[in-house]
Amino acid sequence: MAKQFPEGFLWGGATAANQFEGGYKEGGKGLNLADVLPGGKVRLQIISQPGFNYEIDHTKYTYPNHEGIDFYHRYKEDIALFAEMGFKVFRMSIAWSRIFPNGDELEPNEEGLAFYDRVFDELHKHGIEPLVTLAHYETPLHLIKEYGGWRNRKLVEFFERYVRTVFTRYKDKVKYWLTFNEINGATHMPLIGLGFSPESEETRLQDSFQGLHHQFVASAQAVKIGHEIIPGSQIGCMLIYAPVYSFDSNPDNVMYARQEADIFNFFCGDIQVRGEYPYFAKRYFKENNIELDIREGDLETIKEGTVDFISFSYYMSRTDKKEKTPEEVGVGNLIGGIKNPFLKASEWGWEIDPVGLRIALNELYGRYQKPLMIVENGLGAYDKVEEDGSINDDYRIEYMRDHIKQMGEAIEDGVDLIGYTSWGCIDLVSMSTGQYSKRYGFIYVDKHDDGSGTLERKRKKSFFWYKDVISSNGEVL
Ligand code: BG6
Repeated sequence: MAKQFPEGFLWGGATAANQFEGGYKEGGKGLNLADVLPGGKVRLQIISQPGFNYEIDHTKYTYPNHEGIDFYHRYKEDIALFAEMGFKVFRMSIAWSRIFPNGDELEPNEEGLAFYDRVFDELHKHGIEPLVTLAHYETPLHLIKEYGGWRNRKLVEFFERYVRTVFTRYKDKVKYWLTFNEINGATHMPLIGLGFSPESEETRLQDSFQGLHHQFVASAQAVKIGHEIIPGSQIGCMLIYAPVYSFDSNPDNVMYARQEADIFNFFCGDIQVRGEYPYFAKRYFKENNIELDIREGDLETIKEGTVDFISFSYYMSRTDKKEKTPEEVGVGNLIGGIKNPFLKASEWGWEIDPVGLRIALNELYGRYQKPLMIVENGLGAYDKVEEDGSINDDYRIEYMRDHIKQMGEAIEDGVDLIGYTSWGCIDLVSMSTGQYSKRYGFIYVDKHDDGSGTLERKRKKSFFWYKDVISSNGEVL
């Protein structure tokens, strides 16, 4: 096979602080949203319904994010394992509440800053480039309870202080940054993206788009500040991307799928990449009674702070039609749609569509012509440890092989793809269901939904497979 992946392609893995660090009260860290989310499938109900109270209740729930997989204490061992696989890049997030425990302080927490210094130094020791998300579903809890989350304009100011602090501190250690994780998921799940639980269905869209506007301004400011403080830095946006397929060729359904794609896939990207609200926003806002408070200077800031590259997560496509029967609704993916008869799904019902990744890459590159990076992709699955200690996750290898093949095709199509960090390269806590048993890793962590386990790390079969993929730069699959 011809060489498809460019030299210097950034192979690696991805994580988020709240899902794997643990140490939720150590080193002066304040609580954040993930610390109050219970473990188990109940979490999914909580994040998608109004009226969450943000209290920790040990009598009712477990809180797996508190311990995560204890990367906070085991980072050296974990980074050595990533290095053994040959990682070029490692995606992680900074927990904002480690740096500013409440979010609104004037001075940062030195212990929190020192922790990430140690992690970045360790990565560099192994020749691994950090790729750092500034906000990955971990808004400081105080900002949620006292200010109402991102609906409140004040968060723009607090976020600016936080990014100035981390850019200044890590300017010689981190070159690649992402602003808001899966920013476009906010309207679906405002609680995790924007830090508020909508009071009603009527206010959900108004508040979500206002919160998003604040994040667009905050993100653009971060890009501008990052470029000033760290010359040569590369700062990207981060989208959750799912190509939207029309269920059939009925033009009404095709139009519907197109409009859904516009608002879900392209709305945020257009603002962060092109620096302008898209042409279709006006009508959408009017029809949904959305009126934004846009302050003087906001649109200029957004124009000046466009991103250097586009990163996205890819887990699934979405198939949809305008009129759905109650039986069709809700069977399928996290982000909506109906069942696609041509696709199989994971054990959590997420439809597996490798060709959809090639479509996503072509759609994004065709629209924006900017370098792309896939910063999440992978298969959540139950793994079994055999008696001899081995973990034979052939299903994961097959999933990733099929997706990486499609990446190669997209590169041949002419797409400028610069990197791939698979999600949860080491097993961690699932975001949507708060489970340990939904595993994504090349590295198994002995930790279970009932809280038991030694936290011992083990190499799965996919560990050795991915190592070969990286060392052959994608030629050996
Ligand atoms: C992405 C998030 O949506 O999907 C991650 O950015 C998350 O935080 C990942 O973990 C996989 O989802 P889940 O629910 O299987 O953990």
